[in-house]
Amino acid sequence: MIARSTFAPTAYDDVGDGPPIVFLHGFPHDRSLWAPQVSAFVDRARCVAPDLRGFGGSTGPPPCSIDQYADDVAELLDALAITDVVLVGLSMGGYIALAMWRRHRDRLRALVLAHTRATADTPEIRARRQRLIEVARSEGSRAVADLQIGAMLGATTRAKNPALVAATHRMLALAPVPGIVGALEAMMHRPDSMGLLSTIDVPTLIIAGEEDTSIPASEARVMHKAIAGSRFEVLPAAGHLSNVERPAAFNHVMGEFLAQAGYA
Ligand code: MLT
Repeated sequence: MIARSTFAPTAYDDVGDGPPIVFLHGFPHDRSLWAPQVSAFVDRARCVAPDLRGFGGSTGPPPCSIDQYADDVAELLDALAITDVVLVGLSMGGYIALAMWRRHRDRLRALVLAHTRATADTPEIRARRQRLIEVARSEGSRAVADLQIGAMLGATTRAKNPALVAATHRMLALAPVPGIVGALEAMMHRPDSMGLLSTIDVPTLIIAGEEDTSIPASEARVMHKAIAGSRFEVLPAAGHLSNVERPAAFNHVMGEFLAQAGYA
């Protein structure tokens, strides 16, 4: 489906009935990342998975900030007449989830923060992003995919699941260059959100991957300590994309969390 927004057309999946769950993909992904979760929760929830601006079918101009992505999501909720949601954000989607908390917290009933962090970029990460922008502009998305794929999936997946490695590489290689550049610039300039964590007073689940070298579990644990009452799960044999590497385990902890929170 395509929703007209003030800023950009947003392509999204919107399936199922029940309490709404919104899934925000990471970088440089698209909404297809959430297929294992949408199919698992569609029988008990309304599952909304947008392509963030500049990715997948959302072809609008890239944002200049993570806050802009958050405002796009809030606008999509308005367009769908959804008041409040469980928000699930993976990696960059988690940065956006924290921006949603900063800017639109009245819309959030619970949070799932997967493979993400609350700190801002270090100078080293910013320099790496700048180099990736140059690669994207000079060599295109496939070159970016070649550089990113190693850190996306855990050692177990890379050794045992070549089909998933190929499918993930395909998704990365399809990301449009303007979307890649816009997201990298937005991430480089995002503020530190550590101070925000103590204000989070909705049920929160934090998921990390034992083999995630991109955002190690130790960083996720810091968020867990700062969010009172949060639940923390480290999934074994999973890298940065545990929702596709270990979908049953991811869905299990998410399902338990939602049930405990009285949500779905
Ligand atoms: C992601 O998966 O969204 C990225 O790893 C986030 C980042 O580069 O910080």
